[in-house]
Amino acid sequence: MNRITSLFQIKYPIIQGGMVWCSGWRLASAVSNAGGLGLLGAGSMHPDTLREHIRKCQAATDKPFGVNVPLMYPQIKEIMHLLVEEGVKVVFTSAGNPKLWTPFLKEHGVTVAHVVSSSRFARKCEEAGVDAVVAEGFEAGGHNGREETTTFCLIPAVRRATSLPLIAAGGVGTGRGLLAAMALGAEGVQVGTRFALTQESSAHPDFKAYGLTLEEGDTKLLLKKLSPTRLVKGAFCQAVEEAESRGASVEELRELLGRGRAKKGIFEGDLEDGELELGQVASLFRQSQTVAEVMREMVEEYDAALAALKSSSLLDE
Ligand SMILES: Cc1cc2nc3c(=O)[nH]c(=O)nc-3n(C[C@H](O)[C@H](O)[C@H](O)COP(=O)(O)O)c2cc1C
Repeated sequence: MNRITSLFQIKYPIIQGGMVWCSGWRLASAVSNAGGLGLLGAGSMHPDTLREHIRKCQAATDKPFGVNVPLMYPQIKEIMHLLVEEGVKVVFTSAGNPKLWTPFLKEHGVTVAHVVSSSRFARKCEEAGVDAVVAEGFEAGGHNGREETTTFCLIPAVRRATSLPLIAAGGVGTGRGLLAAMALGAEGVQVGTRFALTQESSAHPDFKAYGLTLEEGDTKLLLKKLSPTRLVKGAFCQAVEEAESRGASVEELRELLGRGRAKKGIFEGDLEDGELELGQVASLFRQSQTVAEVMREMVEEYDAALAALKSSSLLDE
C-alpha cells in the first residue's frame, strides 16, 4: 500500500492514461478489474457519449475508475456538471490550469489529479489543491510539454518541488519501467501507449497492428508552435515535418492539421492521412495482448526486477 493505491483504492499503482479514441468503457473497466485504475478519455467524446461510457463502465466493474478531462474541452462546464451528476469519483485533468475546476470537483467529493510536464506546473497543482500530480515526460504519446524534459529528469525534479502524491508518465510500459519510476520518487505510473495497443482499446485494429511494428525513432515530437504532439511516422507526420522545416506559420500548421485528424488516424485506421499518436515506448511491444495479460506481466516483471536489485547492493564487499 502506498499513497497512490490508498488514494484511489486500487491494488496496483498502475493508472491507464485517458486517451482520445482509445479509452472507452471497455479499456477502462478492464484495467480497473485487473487491479489498476482505468480512465475514460473524455477528450474525444460528446457529453452524451461520455455519459453512456460512464454508465457502461459502472456496469462493467465494481472497482474504482475515473475520467480524464482535457481542460480545453469546448463544453467544459457541461462535462464537469455531468461528471458530478453521474457520481464519478475520480477525475484526471490535463492541458489547462488546475485552479479552474479543482475547487468545484473537490466540493463535490471528487478526487482530482492533474497532468503536468514541469516542476513549475507541479507547484501550481499544489496551490490549486489537487490530490495527486501526474508528471509526464517527453517520451509520452499524445500532447506533450514544450520543454522536452524526459521522465528520467522530470520525476526527481517534481519529487523535490512538491510533496503531493506523484504519478510518473511517459515511457513507462513494463514492470522494469514501473520499478525505475518508483526508484526516482514516483508512487505510481500512468501508462498510455501500451494500453492503447491492447485488445480492449477502442483504437482501430490497423492502428494497433501498425503500433506493434514501430522501431526506436519512429515517433517524433512535432507541432510545437501549435501544441507539441508526439506523432508516429507516416504521411501526415512527414507533411508536418516538411512544413515545419520550411518555417510554416501557426496558421499554415493549423490548416494542415485541419479537424478530426486524430479520429481519422486512431479510430478509423487511416494510416496515410490520419494523425497517429503513440509514445517512444511502443518500440518495446510486438504482441497483441489483453489488459489482464499486460497487468500480470508488469506486476511479475516488477517483482522479479526488484528481487534481483535487492541482492545487488553497491555497498556489499
Ligand atoms: C493515443 C493517445 C491519446 C492520448 N490522449 C490523451 C488525452 O486525451 N488526454 C490526456 O491527458 N492524455 C492523453 N494521452 C497521454 C496519456 O494519457 C499518457 O499520459 C501517456 O500516453 C503516457 O506516456 P506513454 O505513452 O509513454 O505511456 C494520450 C496518449 C496516447 C498514446
